[in-house]
Amino acid sequence: MAERLGFSSVSFARLTLDNNRKAPAEKRAIIRNVSFSVKVGEIFIIAGPSGSGKSTLLRLANRLLVPTDGTVRLDGLDISELEVTALRRRIGLVQQTPALFPGTVLENVLYGPRLSRPDRGRATPKERELVLRSITLAGLAESFLDRNTDQLSEGEMQRVAIARVLANQPEVLLLDEPTASLDPTSTLTIEKHVRMLKEREQIAILFVTHDVEQAKRIGDRGILLVSGQVVDEGPLPKLFTEIRNDTTRAFVSGEL
Ligand SMILES: Nc1ncnc2c1ncn2[C@@H]1O[C@H](COP(=O)(O)OP(=O)(O)OP(=O)(O)O)[C@@H](O)[C@H]1O
Ligand SMILES: [Mg+2]
Repeated sequence: MAERLGFSSVSFARLTLDNNRKAPAEKRAIIRNVSFSVKVGEIFIIAGPSGSGKSTLLRLANRLLVPTDGTVRLDGLDISELEVTALRRRIGLVQQTPALFPGTVLENVLYGPRLSRPDRGRATPKERELVLRSITLAGLAESFLDRNTDQLSEGEMQRVAIARVLANQPEVLLLDEPTASLDPTSTLTIEKHVRMLKEREQIAILFVTHDVEQAKRIGDRGILLVSGQVVDEGPLPKLFTEIRNDTTRAFVSGEL
């Protein structure tokens, strides 16, 4: 399998201001020396406790943040060399809290594809087909197209948020705890569709979760991130079943 997304020695530090706000104080490391790569056709898990830097890693992958050191590559090219809007279509991020605007599912999902073709008005048959394909991949039936987003359940909204990113036909899908606020049934539905997506599309999926059981169910490989550093890595579910590392053991038993 070919490497699609690569992190090489990536670090990210925030400058903190001292109290009188004149001079910058120390740099605070949020991510330290992280390296891994995600291949086409796999679900790669970033697991770790709250505050370990999982969302920060995803933001670094589509340039919402810029690394202090190291490089992030897409198909071998440093992403800092790519035009940023094109990059964000190729590497799509589904945020931890889905942001939908008032209006129909169709309008929400068409938002991305229409950014580059600012023709307003009714969706063309071709656009409708693209949206239908995207919502189907995300696990929603055609009847959702004309429904208003404010009438949807949280699980349905999360699937619309995923469809919205899929409408850009990304090469990499970044999912930030997509089921964190969902009930067990909606969680399993989303997991099923993410798995189907990986089988049907030429896509690399980076999936953030703090849930060990979810990582075992859905992941092909993964890393455990603690305080911004990779403390363990390997194929799943083995990473969390044949434990070789005390920090991993502590994470799995909920002690971190
Ligand atoms: N905008 C910000 N300014 C300053 N510090 C931040 C900012 N965003 C995040 N951080 C800090 O960076 C660290 C990593 O945050 P991040 O959101 O990546 O964690 P996370 O692993 O996604 O946590 P969670 O599981 O709670 O979503 C945390 O200590 C957090 O407080
Ligand atoms: Mg987060």
